[in-house]
Amino acid sequence: MVDLHSHILPNIDDGSKNMEETLKMGRIAEQEGFSKIIATPHYIEGEFILDREQFLNIIKEVNEHFVKNAINIEVLPGLEIYISPDLPSKLKKEEIFTLNNTFYVLIEFPMGNIPIYTEDILYEVRLLGYKPVIAHPERYAKVIEEPDYLKGLIEQGNYVQVNSLSIIGILGKEAKRTAEILLKHRMVHFIGTDAHTSRIRSPRIKEALEQMRQWADNEYVEEILNNGRALIKGEKVDIPQPLTYKPDKGFLHNMRRFFKLKTS
Ligand SMILES: [Fe+2]
Repeated sequence: MVDLHSHILPNIDDGSKNMEETLKMGRIAEQEGFSKIIATPHYIEGEFILDREQFLNIIKEVNEHFVKNAINIEVLPGLEIYISPDLPSKLKKEEIFTLNNTFYVLIEFPMGNIPIYTEDILYEVRLLGYKPVIAHPERYAKVIEEPDYLKGLIEQGNYVQVNSLSIIGILGKEAKRTAEILLKHRMVHFIGTDAHTSRIRSPRIKEALEQMRQWADNEYVEEILNNGRALIKGEKVDIPQPLTYKPDKGFLHNMRRFFKLKTS
């Protein structure tokens, strides 16, 4: 399997603190069934100061340590890019890296309000020929409140990556509930761990896959895993038509509505 979202590189962002931790994460990932991991450190404008060569050297070093320690995982380059108005020009100038040098770009939104320019920036990114992959939307307040907001973004041509750790509840009840809604409404195209450590936020997926198979059919879950394999090769990924989410407003909501109708 392929993990396309991971903070496994040592001492670069808020992920692995050192090579020892990176090795621990690699061992867990191997046990979980991964053979390839795209390293996606946070790119927040003005904060990521490594150039391409330095970055590739760190990846090379990690791969050498994995070989030395008999960890059968290959680490590939990528970034998790925080959305900003400059994103299209940075991509154009090749100042930021895509997922394994393909046309897929992992893009993160703020957890709270989604910026007003988001759809325009994603449009510009697609016009340049790139394929935006929205990182862990199940964690964003806007998507938690209104899952169908994501349906619109998918229909515009953007892809969705959900965290395995959201699916098993490590990132909170709301992220889990939203991941379930997204999966049941065919709004998930890729899965990644977004691992940061060898402890709670470790590169686990097995338990998440079991949960996904309870929420959706096996065929769809396999398709999601195959999409990850296609992504690292830069192949086109066909996505299903997302379904409209109709929120269940619950008993109290229906009662209030009933009495409102009776008195009006
Ligand atoms: Fe991340």
